[in-house]
Amino acid sequence: MCGIVGYIGQRSALPVLIDGLRRLEYRGYDSAGIAYANGEGIGIHKTMGRIDDLKNILPAPLPEARVGLGHTRWATHGAPSDRNAHPHETGGVAVVHNGIIENYQQLKARLIAEGHEFASDTDTEVIPQLISSYMQKGFHFEEAMRMAILDLKGSYALGIMSASAPGKLFAVRNGSPLVVGFGPGEFFFASDIPAFLAYTKKFAFMEDGQIFTLAAGEEARLERLETNGNSGGNSGKRPPEPELKIVEIDWTAEMAEKEGYDYFMQKEIYEQPATVMETMREWLDDPMEMLRTMGITPKMILGLRRLHIAACGTSYHAALVGKYAIESLAHIPVEVEIASEFRYKHLLVEKNSLFVSITQSGETADTLAAQREAGKKGAHTLTICNVVGSTASREADSVLYTRAGPEIGVASTKAFTAQMAALCLLAVALGVKRGRLIADEAETLTGQLKKMPLLIEKALAAGPHVKEVAASVTGARSMLYLGRGINYPIALEGALKLKEISYIHAEGYPAGEMKHGPIALIESGLPVVVVIPMGSLFEKTLSNIEEVKARGGRVIAVTDEPASLQGKADETIPVPSTHPVLSPFVNVIPLQMLAFHTGVIRGNDVDKPRNLAKSVTVE
Ligand code: AGP
Repeated sequence: MCGIVGYIGQRSALPVLIDGLRRLEYRGYDSAGIAYANGEGIGIHKTMGRIDDLKNILPAPLPEARVGLGHTRWATHGAPSDRNAHPHETGGVAVVHNGIIENYQQLKARLIAEGHEFASDTDTEVIPQLISSYMQKGFHFEEAMRMAILDLKGSYALGIMSASAPGKLFAVRNGSPLVVGFGPGEFFFASDIPAFLAYTKKFAFMEDGQIFTLAAGEEARLERLETNGNSGGNSGKRPPEPELKIVEIDWTAEMAEKEGYDYFMQKEIYEQPATVMETMREWLDDPMEMLRTMGITPKMILGLRRLHIAACGTSYHAALVGKYAIESLAHIPVEVEIASEFRYKHLLVEKNSLFVSITQSGETADTLAAQREAGKKGAHTLTICNVVGSTASREADSVLYTRAGPEIGVASTKAFTAQMAALCLLAVALGVKRGRLIADEAETLTGQLKKMPLLIEKALAAGPHVKEVAASVTGARSMLYLGRGINYPIALEGALKLKEISYIHAEGYPAGEMKHGPIALIESGLPVVVVIPMGSLFEKTLSNIEEVKARGGRVIAVTDEPASLQGKADETIPVPSTHPVLSPFVNVIPLQMLAFHTGVIRGNDVDKPRNLAKSVTVE
């Protein structure tokens, strides 16, 4: 997730762009850059690092310009570096981009075959190169720009400008957010409202497939991006141009960074439909391609006798979900270890086995150490990581990036579901490759994964009910979380979320383990959260609910079968049904919200809980 900005009007553009980027820095901060047009062509300054590093390389005094673009990067393709920073410029066309161009490799190969030379490793650079290629074939800039955009597949919010159209700026949206701000004789655009809330309160939210042409002192022109061929559908008539809807925003800039939410954690919980989709987008149609891209060969896969996963905290819980998924779909034994334990034990890691580290930050000391130890033993190391260019991603043999964007809240939420998405795709790919998963079963799973953003939305809809439940447990001294099978790790994750956000003691247990000790904890009114999806373990888990109820416990059930729990659970929080292996995606949502609301009601700083840090880079 990156931040893009653009300005055209009567002000000096560079200070406005830098100010806008600073307010978007939470969207990505590994490199930054600006481009401007002032009649002498396109000027560009860009660097690895933060906005302050960009300011340090700008000439003094700042070049005078009335139009420009800016970008603060969260690397997806191409490690953080000066050359991979945006804007990217080719033939006097400058582009900034937020999103992923899925077909960039094919486009890049085509352009290289035409003799174009690339200066970066990014997917984005294919855009100015494409525009320039069409211009070299005789098309004027605006035609070439539209043709190039039609060649793109994937998600993109673009800012485009050209030396051949110095008085114009173009904003294009398809799949990534983009808003346009309106001032007297001036226009702004940005990935998020905070960028320019200090300059205007009037914004239009662009929709997918739209392009804005912005020229100072003229009316903004909003058009539909023509699709290839007849865009008039069956009628043959051209659809009406989109209606320009300008809204007045009454947020403060700080509120707007959280997009109106009170906390980053809440915003990130609600981002999960999008971030799960973003993580899967590249591989859903062909999970096998993911293995090829990671250099995991068929020979290694067929020769695999076991798979090791090491991680910490929430990432460890994702690893446990991955164990269930890989063992059930690919029939490969999976050993999951807490990284701080893995690194000090007598390692039985075989040469050419597969070791997976899971880490949102890519900087967790224990996880890095475990990955290094496994590498020394000759294992192929794969990291599932959320930060391009992080230590884990640089040191591992292969990387499978989650695309959750910066996770600002200390409590991991969207990274967790993104990690599960990556692990499920890995399980499907390994299962197919080892002949354990037939094509129909794989299609059923990937079909259900495609629906997952919608299912997560449905689980999020229980938010108000969860908030009421939170109000009823804020006084608890302790809570239990129970689950079975692939939802046992979800019980662990729910307990961890509650502990780290509300400071209430909580423990996650396999529901079947109650009789072996924990049931002694049950006393009148003790809240016990039970994850109980319909399926082969439903009846067994229902018995555990009855055992808790018989001893006065208060049962809060997370289930896709609320009717079956009438009169049995004290509270039922509904989630949608899905494939059993995918049920953790929806079951964790209410538990995240329960922790969040309980923490807020107890007056805690849920974005920065006491004693915790976002990345534990010390042992
Ligand atoms: C999760 O809510 C915690 N913040 C913590 O357990 C975290 O998951 C753990 O420190 C691992 O971090 P990593 O994923 O960046 O390696």
